[in-house]
Amino acid sequence: MKLVLLLLLVTEASCRSHSSGCEKGCDCRGDLKFTICSRASFTRLPSRVPPITELLDLSDNWISIIPERTFNTTRKLRVLLLQNNNISVVEDGAFCQLEFLQKLDLSWNQITTLSEGFSIGLASLRELQLSHNRLTTLDSRTFRHLDSIQRLNLTNNSIQTIQMRSFSSMSLLRQLHLQDNQLTSLRSGTFSMLHSLKVLNLAGNQISEAETGVFKPLASLTLLNIANNQLTTICFKTFLSIHTYSTHLLLEGNPWNCDCDLQRVFRKLRSIQRLFLDDYYNLTCSSPPDLQGYLLINVDDELCIAETVTVLIITITVIITLLAAMLMGERKRRRRKRRDSTGRSRETSQTSQTTEATSVSDLNISLFLFSRCSLVVFSGNRFLCIDICKP
Ligand SMILES: *[C@@H]1O[C@H](CO)[C@@H](O)[C@H](O)[C@H]1NC(C)=O
Ligand SMILES: *[C@@H]1O[C@H](CO)[C@@H](O)[C@H](O)[C@H]1NC(C)=O
Ligand SMILES: *[C@@H]1O[C@H](CO)[C@@H](O)[C@H](O)[C@H]1NC(C)=O
Ligand SMILES: *[C@@H]1O[C@H](CO)[C@@H](O)[C@H](O)[C@H]1NC(C)=O
Ligand SMILES: *[C@@H]1O[C@H](CO)[C@@H](O)[C@H](O)[C@H]1NC(C)=O
Repeated sequence: MKLVLLLLLVTEASCRSHSSGCEKGCDCRGDLKFTICSRASFTRLPSRVPPITELLDLSDNWISIIPERTFNTTRKLRVLLLQNNNISVVEDGAFCQLEFLQKLDLSWNQITTLSEGFSIGLASLRELQLSHNRLTTLDSRTFRHLDSIQRLNLTNNSIQTIQMRSFSSMSLLRQLHLQDNQLTSLRSGTFSMLHSLKVLNLAGNQISEAETGVFKPLASLTLLNIANNQLTTICFKTFLSIHTYSTHLLLEGNPWNCDCDLQRVFRKLRSIQRLFLDDYYNLTCSSPPDLQGYLLINVDDELCIAETVTVLIITITVIITLLAAMLMGERKRRRRKRRDSTGRSRETSQTSQTTEATSVSDLNISLFLFSRCSLVVFSGNRFLCIDICKP
């Protein structure tokens, strides 16, 4: 008991002895390497932070501005926590003296824009947390100086646009979290330099289209999450172009249009050894109306049946028409023959020639396009089926 008391007294004393270099409301520990100022009701950055501080925790305060060159006395910082403040302005060069900074947490703030000056000096930064802010656009220059970044979290902003080259300096990036934003389409080139990226999370956006080459540069991808978007269909080539050893795909929560094309795409995707459609059994149809709410897995055997039946019906109709035409031609010919046999013999051969020509041109139905996929070409009494959907 006495020992505990003594220990407490010693700690107390050591705290007080340090408090000279420590801002009121902060707790400076670990030989002044850790300065904890969370929940201290600061509205501005504290001015008295020990210069040898490596971790500065300013979370849960009311700070609203990060001025330029504000960390000029704490250049040894490795971790800077600013989450849950009221930050709306990050001035150019705010962090430019933090050359050893490895983790910066700015999540749960009010940041709407970040200019190029934001990332100046942050060449050692490995982790940047920017979730729950109000970013609408990722500018091509914002992250330009983040050469060492490995994890970037932009969850729950309002990002609609990602400019080309926004991630171009990030060849070491391993995780990119873009879930719960407002992205509507994915353009080729957006992720072009992200050769090390393992996790790409795009869940909870409004993505309805993805250009074919958009995932192609992602040579290390292990998880691609596009769940809860607005995809109605996908293109086989978009995913075929992911050249990795193994990649897990998440696609549920999209309004799938369950037709024969979609069934074919998924059948092909599932046959690719290196792709894992983890939530394939959870994909639900949104359209056509009569399939709404059904699991794709429960209807996918039937999706192409309707198409096959249509093809059959059309083919049969065509064959019947064809036979009818031939029959009628034949009957006409016979009737003429009979009539002509009573007439002169020289003219007979001529007439029969012309009739034959007419009946052949009757049969020249030439082109049929049906069910989007099959092209039927008629020529004479032969016809050719071509599947135009196959690559
Ligand atoms: C740090 O910056 C402030 C204001 O920008 C300035 O007044 C101060 O002299 C600077 N300190 C050092 C050590 O550079
Ligand atoms: C948060 O920042 C805004 C704009 O900078 C300011 O108007 C508001 O008073 C701040 N709120 C608090 C609680 O400090
Ligand atoms: C990204 O941010 C969200 C919200 O703050 C958090 O829940 C999640 O753990 C973060 N993810 C990573 C990988 O840092
Ligand atoms: C994202 O944040 C907004 C406001 O901060 C909130 O209303 C919304 O529910 C959040 N979305 C998710 C998926 O967390
Ligand atoms: C499929 O949905 C069920 C119920 O919503 C859920 O428990 C399960 O984790 C989902 N499976 C996958 C692979 O997402």
